[in-house]
Amino acid sequence: FPVVVLISGSGSNLQALIDQSLQGVLNIDIRAVISNKASAYGLQRAEQSGIATHALSHKDFETREAFDQALATVIDSYQPKLIILAGFMRILSEDFTRRYEGMMLNIHPSLLPKFKGLNTHQRAIDAKESEHGVSVHFVSAELDAGAVVLQASTAIDENETAESLANKVHTLEHIIYPLTVKWFSTGRLELNSGIAYLDGAPL
Ligand code: GRF
Repeated sequence: FPVVVLISGSGSNLQALIDQSLQGVLNIDIRAVISNKASAYGLQRAEQSGIATHALSHKDFETREAFDQALATVIDSYQPKLIILAGFMRILSEDFTRRYEGMMLNIHPSLLPKFKGLNTHQRAIDAKESEHGVSVHFVSAELDAGAVVLQASTAIDENETAESLANKVHTLEHIIYPLTVKWFSTGRLELNSGIAYLDGAPL
């Protein structure tokens, strides 16, 4: 099942996907990893696994639309059936999100609809939440607002720091993202009129 993964950083979620496909748990073929930052460690992870990589810097383009157009051209050359955003830290244009509607997933480190955007761990602590977590969702034009597919939560303990919380959430991410990708790649998960369905039942 052909997929392309978009990253901007460490790529630990990418690594979880690579590992599970090597183990035969996931039936995906990661055709390429694309980063908007040439220094992203995830590009090295991809290379180590023999996966094609591209660094496409948004700074080389005058507008968001021009960058997104170039990004789409690279993506389409691999003919993926799913685009996986795994720590890709760019806001995508409406045209781009519409082009891949129903075939693009993102992972966001909060229990959406709470804490869209950045610095979610610190914000959850500051808001004195008792729990925090992570969400996998289909990407829509509005940031972090597409249909949620799966969430996992963890308690915010006393003396919790943004770093300790991020570590706990990352552990959850590496479980739920591959699982969600598996649902999609085996035809169990789909988006229809903005609603996510698993095995034909709305989520
Ligand atoms: C994760 O926390 C993910 O939820 C967010 O970006 C981070 C990516 O981490 N969207 P990694 O690069 O996969 O290690």
